[in-house]
Amino acid sequence: MKIFIDTANLDQIKKAVEWGVCDGVTTNPTLVSKENLPFEELIQEICRLVPGPVSVEAVSTQAGEIIQEARGLAKLGENVVIKIPMTEEGIKAIRVLAMEGIQVNTTLIFSPIQALLAAKAGARFVSPFVGRLDDITHEGMALVEQIMAILNNYGLDCEVIVASIRHPLHLVEAALLGADIATVPFPVLEKAMKHPLTDIGLERFLRDWSKVKHK
Ligand code: E4P
Repeated sequence: MKIFIDTANLDQIKKAVEWGVCDGVTTNPTLVSKENLPFEELIQEICRLVPGPVSVEAVSTQAGEIIQEARGLAKLGENVVIKIPMTEEGIKAIRVLAMEGIQVNTTLIFSPIQALLAAKAGARFVSPFVGRLDDITHEGMALVEQIMAILNNYGLDCEVIVASIRHPLHLVEAALLGADIATVPFPVLEKAMKHPLTDIGLERFLRDWSKVKHK
């Protein structure tokens, strides 16, 4: 499973890249609004740091404007992927952009049919938001399972990004399903790395090592 980092924070991205576990980055308007750098500069720097796709969201709502905005965003870096929300206007834009060779990540996916339509229109990625479904007592991971089955049934060349991840168990579930990608908030990645028995075990090994005699 590829791991994308769901953040626009440069320090977090640098750390994840250093750890060797960052296959890409997803941003959205909320994440970008938390950072201090001018938007274009921020995205260019993220693209420079990350050895994989960087999703950047278009905020226009009409197809023609989404297409114009996407063309501009795509110039910010070779690895920019345009995030487009799943709407009727968005679908129209996806089709045009896909024909131009601009990669699209369809965002705010909450049903399997939305994912099928986005993939048919030419989206390179679809992002089902599992945490936001869990929040309203719908099982988010069941949606991922359905989307994967449907895309597989028809051999559609579209990768599933499990998004809106809230905790390490979401990561385990996504990996067990065989999801292509999970996009993970940095604090969840930090938690996922830790286990109290690892800490206790290391402490004991180091204590015992200090008793070992050397020549
Ligand atoms: C996905 O690409 C989104 O940026 C993200 O996963 C949304 O997560 P949230 O529901 O925690 O805002």
